[in-house]
Amino acid sequence: MTNLSCSTIPVLRGPVPLSHLFLRSFLRDGQTAVDATCGNGYDTLLLARLVGAHGHVWGFDIQQQAIAETCRRLTEEDLLSRVTLLQVGHEELTQHVTEPVQAVLFNLGYRPGGDRSIITRPDTTGSALEQSLSLLEAGGVVMLTVYPGHNGGVDEQAVIEKWAAGLDPRSCNCWRMGQTNVSPEAPYLLLVQKVL
Ligand SMILES: C[S@@+](CC[C@H](N)C(=O)[O-])C[C@H]1O[C@@H](n2cnc3c(N)ncnc32)[C@H](O)[C@@H]1O
Repeated sequence: MTNLSCSTIPVLRGPVPLSHLFLRSFLRDGQTAVDATCGNGYDTLLLARLVGAHGHVWGFDIQQQAIAETCRRLTEEDLLSRVTLLQVGHEELTQHVTEPVQAVLFNLGYRPGGDRSIITRPDTTGSALEQSLSLLEAGGVVMLTVYPGHNGGVDEQAVIEKWAAGLDPRSCNCWRMGQTNVSPEAPYLLLVQKVL
């Protein structure tokens, strides 16, 4: 039997590797992307790799530790020059990012290994989603890993689902993807592609 941990085949356990699979399809050298929740910097690092030397990534997080950890990870890989890191809430997205972007990534909830009381919130997430869509190029994607099982997660999920369900199907393709053989409260991926 093949040992997947030693192969290049992605292991799709949970929504985060699935979001990475999509990012690899959607992002090209020279493009611009946003990590709306840097956390420990894993997603920012992937985005920085995918946009290449001529692209750019904007990274947001409200926590100083998250920005420091992301900065450390990018520096280790010599990719910091491709990224602008901001210790700012993503609800201020369009105050900082004014250029069109190809992808905006949200990995919601709390920072693994950090303070679990510092979480993403329905009102700020909702505002950031509206702003993300306004920045997105045609063909670009907003992707969210949603955590209904977290404290406050159900309220945030309700805001996100209402927003996505209300998008005009002529201008956006909205997808919800979750594993079927796990708890109904397990995190899942929501993908919104802007087509117009
Ligand atoms: C699940 S973690 C992100 C994981 C991260 N993408 C990674 O690769 O490690 C969620 C992060 O969202 C951040 N956050 C909470 N509210 C925020 C806001 N309004 N704007 C930006 N980041 C926020 C938290 O501080 C936390 O670090």
